[in-house]
Amino acid sequence: MNIIITGDQDEDARRRLRDAAPSARLEFAAHVDGSIGAADAVVGHVPEALLARAPRLRWVHSPSAGVDGVLSDGLLASDVTLTSSTGNGAIPLAEHAMLLLLMLNRDAPRWMRAQSERRWDRHVHGELAGKTIGLYGLGHAGLDLAAKAKAFHMNVLGMRRRTGVPAPGVDELFGPDDFPRFLAESDFVVVTAPLTAATAGRFDRAAFAAMKRTACFVCVSRGGIADDGALLDALRRGEIAGAGLDAHGVEPLPADSPFWSLPNVIVTPHNGATTRETARRGFDILLDNLGRFARGEPLRNVVDKAAGY
Ligand SMILES: NC(=O)c1ccc[n+]([C@@H]2O[C@H](COP(=O)([O-])OP(=O)(O)OC[C@H]3O[C@@H](n4cnc5c(N)ncnc54)[C@H](OP(=O)(O)O)[C@@H]3O)[C@@H](O)[C@H]2O)c1
Repeated sequence: MNIIITGDQDEDARRRLRDAAPSARLEFAAHVDGSIGAADAVVGHVPEALLARAPRLRWVHSPSAGVDGVLSDGLLASDVTLTSSTGNGAIPLAEHAMLLLLMLNRDAPRWMRAQSERRWDRHVHGELAGKTIGLYGLGHAGLDLAAKAKAFHMNVLGMRRRTGVPAPGVDELFGPDDFPRFLAESDFVVVTAPLTAATAGRFDRAAFAAMKRTACFVCVSRGGIADDGALLDALRRGEIAGAGLDAHGVEPLPADSPFWSLPNVIVTPHNGATTRETARRGFDILLDNLGRFARGEPLRNVVDKAAGY
């Protein structure tokens, strides 16, 4: 059994990977190349052109939670099982969303501007208590955020694809047809859903127009779920009050992007889940799956390729 593992691993990590699958031959590589022909599994991205040259390939594992970057048309059409690291960054993503909510609700950038000028600038700001958060996505990150929002005494609304699945901490669960009401009732709309065919561009002009003029939009999962042009217009015209953006349609966000300078926008550089713990949880998922694959056991975090996550 041959497994190609891409990415950077130190000797200790390589030892642990070998120990997880002692019967397999592991090849550590910067990226996938000609040796794909003999590979049974790949950890990392398999370029579309190489898939046709991989007759033995049965498993691809994504080191990221989101698989939008690895789920090519060829992989979708194939019998290859795709697994993800979903859940690895849920806790820091939820923490980052709370940070953005608090900063937006208290106009924290105003304090930071005043501090840089040594100016004492007190202002009346908001409380999260009693406000309504609308969670678009109720997976690992969304449900952790629901619990955190509850601890801040917020009212929690949620949307997910599978409405029959329980959503602890969520006061009201909305189905896809109820999107306008979900938006209209939220003081903060927070996107934690993956980028898929169904979510791409979901936050368009109509969506922002359906939100309260006092509401803020926060995205911590993936750019492209919001139509950036529509979001910019909504922010400039005051159709919504502000935005906190860790994920952007184009990354890195270009230096001339208007998002950098809008006073009601907080930009962070896709950094919300960049913690050592995220890396550790992701590595643990990989170790677990490697062992399962080597032993012929069912894999965890199997992606529903048709759904895109
Ligand atoms: N910024 C970063 O550094 C960073 C780090 C890690 C992850 N991420 C992103 O965060 C995303 C979420 O991570 P996670 O671990 O929470 O993933 P997850 O556990 O797979 O949760 C995804 C959630 O999105 C929901 N969803 C999918 N399609 C939807 C749709 N069309 N409408 C409404 N909801 C939909 C799912 O619904 P069901 O519950 O019904 O299946 C699920 O609740 C990842 O996909 C990744 O893109 C970003």
